[in-house]
Amino acid sequence: AGALEKACNLTGETVLITAGGTREPIDPVRFIGNRSSGKMGYALAAQARCRGARVLLISAPTSLPVPEGCELISVTTSEEMRSAVLARLAEASIVIMAAAVSDFRMAVTASQKLKREGPRTLQLEPTADILQEIVKRRNPDTLVLGFAAETENLLANGRAKLLRKGVDALVLNDVSGSETGFDSDRNAGWFLTPEGTTELPLSTKSDMAGRILEEAARLRSSRDQ
Ligand code: CTP
Ligand code: CA
Repeated sequence: AGALEKACNLTGETVLITAGGTREPIDPVRFIGNRSSGKMGYALAAQARCRGARVLLISAPTSLPVPEGCELISVTTSEEMRSAVLARLAEASIVIMAAAVSDFRMAVTASQKLKREGPRTLQLEPTADILQEIVKRRNPDTLVLGFAAETENLLANGRAKLLRKGVDALVLNDVSGSETGFDSDRNAGWFLTPEGTTELPLSTKSDMAGRILEEAARLRSSRDQ
């Protein structure tokens, strides 16, 4: 088990990764967004490519360069991300839903710029849960990983989300601190599976991405036996 084997442990896999924060238009000039930078998803894409995988990177807007050798599919809204994911799902042997998908969008998008009058209330409706659709529609051999952003009761909320979503694994992040999470270059968390919990110690997002992919590869090989 040398460095080469470690570097190449995803050869033959197609990894579909979503990244960044989706944007839901309010009117022609405004949108509902979130604090995701896309760094964690892009780090996963780069590391998966280094390990020999074919990488499909479905990305909401970010200010990051596309990692070398990855196929970029650019999207803006959660609905565009949903369509892109479902269109490419059959190609993927591993799906990692690292994007911060907006939970709400405008019930009706304003066709003209809203004027500064008000108080004003925006009526929002929930977006589709892309991860849940992936779990429903995947080929049974496809490994599906989600992320969970939590600010309180981390492990309890994370474990409940793992079971609710029916994913193979969930990467649990604390997004309440300033040291990790949104826009930070570092991250920490836990890798949750129905079998157990593995700590992901504080490290660069690049190192954490490597760890996540190793755990994914381990899950895959334990399934194959
Ligand atoms: N996700 C998704 N589609 C959505 C919302 C979230 O696919 N409309 C995915 C995220 O990409 C992530 C996982 O679901 O992989 C969990 O996202 P999170 O925001 O932590 O959980 P939610 O199910 O949205 O629940 P809540 O925000 O209420 O905690
Ligand atoms: Ca959410």
